[in-house]
Amino acid sequence: MSATDSLVPVQEALATKLQAAVADLVEVPPTPPVDRSKAGFASDFQTPLALQLKKQLGGNPRQIASTIVDKLGGDDMIAGLDIGGPGFIGVTLSDAYLQTHLAGMLASDRLGVPVLDDSTVVIDFSAPNVAKRMHIGHIRSTIIGDALRRLGTFLGQTIIADNHIGDWGTQFGRVIWAWKNWRDEEAFAADPIGELERLYVTFVRKEKEDASYTDRAKAELVKLQSGDAENNALWQMMIDTSRVAFESIYERLDIHFDVTHGESFYNDMLQPLVDELLADGTAQISEGAAVIFFKDEHGDDTLPPFLIRKSDGAALYATSDLATVRYRETEWSPTRCIYVTDTRQQNHFRQVFEVARRMGVDTRLDHVWFGMMTLPEGAFSTRDGNAPPLHEFLDEAEKRARDQQVKRLESLGETWPEEELDQLARIIGLGGVKYSDLSNNPQTNITFSFDKMLSLEGNTAVYLQYTSARTHSLSKKAASEGIAPPDGTTLKLALPQERDLMLQMLDFGKATRAAWEQGKPNLLATYLYELASKYHTFYQSCPVKTEADATLQMSRLNLNLLARKVLAQGLDLLGIDAPERM
Ligand code: ARG
Repeated sequence: MSATDSLVPVQEALATKLQAAVADLVEVPPTPPVDRSKAGFASDFQTPLALQLKKQLGGNPRQIASTIVDKLGGDDMIAGLDIGGPGFIGVTLSDAYLQTHLAGMLASDRLGVPVLDDSTVVIDFSAPNVAKRMHIGHIRSTIIGDALRRLGTFLGQTIIADNHIGDWGTQFGRVIWAWKNWRDEEAFAADPIGELERLYVTFVRKEKEDASYTDRAKAELVKLQSGDAENNALWQMMIDTSRVAFESIYERLDIHFDVTHGESFYNDMLQPLVDELLADGTAQISEGAAVIFFKDEHGDDTLPPFLIRKSDGAALYATSDLATVRYRETEWSPTRCIYVTDTRQQNHFRQVFEVARRMGVDTRLDHVWFGMMTLPEGAFSTRDGNAPPLHEFLDEAEKRARDQQVKRLESLGETWPEEELDQLARIIGLGGVKYSDLSNNPQTNITFSFDKMLSLEGNTAVYLQYTSARTHSLSKKAASEGIAPPDGTTLKLALPQERDLMLQMLDFGKATRAAWEQGKPNLLATYLYELASKYHTFYQSCPVKTEADATLQMSRLNLNLLARKVLAQGLDLLGIDAPERM
């Protein structure tokens, strides 16, 4: 097999065999679900196929199961078959199949995971607003979106990561006025985006006390919108300043975009689009504004009305999202667009997607929404009750990771070079922040905790990183004992713990596909956590150094190597590095 060859996933191979086995029993064989058997069962996989066929064939499902089992016998993939409960068929894989499949994974650059089609998928994520610092509220979209970008790319799809930054809107009237009247040049030189944010926050505070400020902001905004050169230059400066600040966060977190088309990119497309939607009856004039209604057959609203042009003629966030859908269709002809934002925009995207359908767009549109991430009281010294800026939060994560490792190394009596410690702190700290997010179902609220993030026992990045480091130390130790390095092909099964680890590794492709399909990186995280637990059990029960059987010894080194490759690849898909030693 060549390095990039893919392997037929085990469930798929079994489903095909099962379908063939019932081909002359029913005209259209159903696609049988094949799942890993629960712990305690003798078989590796189970299928309810016989139960599925009960309606069509009549009779007792156990009888049907037994007919299927007879037909399946004598297959070199299958070592054993059994029938359980009301008629579940249990399948035990042959050692030969496991050996060939796992050696195939070892020989492949992509661990044998098949690619999907290479059609284009747009991922719209991160998208912070200009003239404000990124804070912890922006982290989830950034981290989840990036994991999806990595997953889609790994699975062979053509990804366009588009950072739809908020670079247009009424806030610019405020910041421009405040800039002209209150700016502190020195502060701006020291911390450009911090100063822009201060100006904005100060203005909003003033505006609350004195309504006349609203008119000042409006006047600046009107000038900006009507092409005033000074205001346009200031606006551009604010975008550039913000993007430099965003970039430094992205670089630190190893996050990448293919394009950054902010909201303003669509400005010229907005009015013609509204006119078009009015002309074709999609939108209506209501109290001077252009609105789209969503009504069922009784005339009741299925969604709140969607305002796309205010009565004063101004377009909105909604309008630019419609123009964005249209632009992406024309420019890239994607088969899927994924939007990653928090839960509060669920209705917004329902409305956008529904209007997109009316505009003739049949691309799959997914809103991957996520819950809030909060910090527990006292976890961070938040200033003025504001969310801490993201870079300070990341600094803190690295610092805590470093402290933990220094303490651990001290207790082991080890001293490491400072640079390696810094490197380790970065990998554990930033990996920990990402994993704290990605290991949860996006659609839950999470309370972030540094202590939890750094726990060496739970489902954490540092635990997975530690597991990966252990695979390195095992092979290093073996080498120092004069044991030959893993040959990538020899595999032998002796103990159930080996088989368990092997079966888990077979499932890597399935986990990555599920995470990508469902927009849930936590499905991959959970898989990796289970893999790590099975690896530790294997490590404890299946010795290498003292194993007298040379074939078995070699097999264990190969399993160790494959576990490392799967862990490293899986972590990389989550945007997390794995250190060689810890
Ligand atoms: N800038 C927006 C916000 O901060 C997020 C944009 C999401 N993407 C989109 N196409 N609307 O809420």
